[in-house]
Amino acid sequence: MLQDRLKWNEKYQSENYPDEPAAIVKQYANLAGGKNALDIAAGNGRNALFLARQGFVVDAVDISDTGLTQFAGKHPGIHALCVDLDDFDIPANRYDLIINIKFLNRRLFPYIREGLTPGGVLIFQTFLDSPDPGKEQPGCRDYLLRENELLHSFLSLKIPLYQESEEKKNDEAAYLATLVGIKIG
Ligand SMILES: C[S@@+](CC[C@H](N)C(=O)[O-])C[C@H]1O[C@@H](n2cnc3c(N)ncnc32)[C@H](O)[C@@H]1O
Repeated sequence: MLQDRLKWNEKYQSENYPDEPAAIVKQYANLAGGKNALDIAAGNGRNALFLARQGFVVDAVDISDTGLTQFAGKHPGIHALCVDLDDFDIPANRYDLIINIKFLNRRLFPYIREGLTPGGVLIFQTFLDSPDPGKEQPGCRDYLLRENELLHSFLSLKIPLYQESEEKKNDEAAYLATLVGIKIG
């Protein structure tokens, strides 16, 4: 959606987004047997660059051309693609590793499952609505997972890790759901 592009371009122009890769990616990427990876909503490329340096060939997709220019051309193992994930269909049986960090588009769930090769690994971590009904998280609830939703959505995978946890940021609480899944067969 054009609105998403404008919003995120503005953010990447005006804010310093962290360039340290997500801890969960550093911890679990080596579970993947092959080297073809997809970074969904790659942002400024912090995770894609980490994966490429580990030897992965990464398709890094995002709607923000400003975010993409922060890492496009920095590593030959990265293909940076400006796409709207509202319309993008992940090709079936293509990726040994798919990561989805701090982004939610439920329409993609079946494509993510199908996009993994047999034995392929999914690392998914994003925001969760507050477990406390009196303390809903700010922002649009469409972009927040419900309790256990991520787990139920990927039950066809073998799941070595699922957790829901609180993250403190500048004295504010955010809640995260984290799943690592492996496609069986
Ligand atoms: C919170 S950032 C997370 C970036 C990255 N995954 C990370 O962990 O650093 C969310 C990203 O989603 C992207 N995004 C939002 N809506 C999108 C859409 N419709 N299609 C593709 N990317 C989108 C934004 O441009 C932004 O880079």
